[in-house]
Amino acid sequence: MSSLKDTLGRTFPYLRLSVTDLCNFRCNYCLPDGCLEHNHKAALKLVEIKRLIHAFSQLGVEKIRITGGEPTLRHDFTDIVQTIKAAPGIHTVAMTTNGYKMDQCISAWLKAGIDAVNVSVDSLNPGAFSLITGHNRLQEILAGIKAGFELGLPVIKVNTVLMKGLNDGELSRFLAWIKDQPITLRLIELMETGDNHDFFNRHHVSGSTIRSQLIDLGWVRIARSRDAGPAQEYRHSDYQGRIGLITPYARDFCDDCNRLRVTSLGKLQLCLFGDQGIDLRDLLQHDHQQDALIERITSSLRLKKDSHFLDQGITGNTANLAQLGG
Ligand code: GTP
Ligand code: 5AD
Ligand code: SF4
Repeated sequence: MSSLKDTLGRTFPYLRLSVTDLCNFRCNYCLPDGCLEHNHKAALKLVEIKRLIHAFSQLGVEKIRITGGEPTLRHDFTDIVQTIKAAPGIHTVAMTTNGYKMDQCISAWLKAGIDAVNVSVDSLNPGAFSLITGHNRLQEILAGIKAGFELGLPVIKVNTVLMKGLNDGELSRFLAWIKDQPITLRLIELMETGDNHDFFNRHHVSGSTIRSQLIDLGWVRIARSRDAGPAQEYRHSDYQGRIGLITPYARDFCDDCNRLRVTSLGKLQLCLFGDQGIDLRDLLQHDHQQDALIERITSSLRLKKDSHFLDQGITGNTANLAQLGG
């Protein structure tokens, strides 16, 4: 049980660790001009990650999601997975990827100990996929997902950011795709960030519109587990796959927030849309600093706010989600 608790009584069994802010894609809602500025070389070293994870595991964190930028751009990615997997008390090591290397690397990721992969597929139409991500790589990514199933990867979720005029006409195609495959397809409401104001205004589709469409089609909401992310899950008796609806603009979205973030430079972020973050890196330099590290993490939690302020167009310090891995 997580001993990390904030003033609202929320507990935090789930840590999202960004291991680099570098990305090789150019998703139009995130990095439309590519990754112009990054701190890839300065990212946390393996030994720092090890100390960080040990501290969080002592605080009852059980699930770690490795994020980026694109986390697999780290040459030591599989070492990172192995190190996290070996930490006492960590029962799930998950990752979020754009999938560009999945077909070649999934067996190495599995060998290193990955339990779950979330991979972005914003369109099943190769032309639209390329327009959205800047890369003509849809087939490779779909091959990676197929390879994941064949090799027995226990959990595969697909992330689709819904955008007016770009992919919002593809719902029936996506649904047909998960009819006979046990994929959890997550339909994500586009979020405004510091850099995408105009894009957001042009392409945002309300999550409640999608929810009504799903309910009309017979999808039924199911309960989620304690260490699940923010998606509300839906099932349908005609489908092997499930839908996860991520609606950050819904009232009460933050009430059951159960996750913290650490950036690739070692800053603790209490919210995806927070401020500067709390530096932990100076306490990741020696094994004997673990008690001080735990104390800093614990005491920082009183600063966690009730909610983000996205509905007021306030995006905090978050220019794009590549910065801290979504
Ligand atoms: P699971 O652990 O599989 O439930 O994953 P997840 O949905 O938490 O992670 P993933 O990295 O696949 O993120 C999917 C989408 O959810 C991305 O757009 C994230 O930015 C968004 N998301 C995840 N956590 C939060 C959060 O705390 N707040 C907000 N606003 N969005 C979040
Ligand atoms: N709004 C919603 N989702 C986003 N992602 C990146 N930027 C945004 C945004 N502005 C998603 C990616 C990926 C996950 C980590 O976050 O598509 O699936
Ligand atoms: Fe796309 Fe993710 Fe890279 Fe952003 S970080 S450009 S959403 S792949």
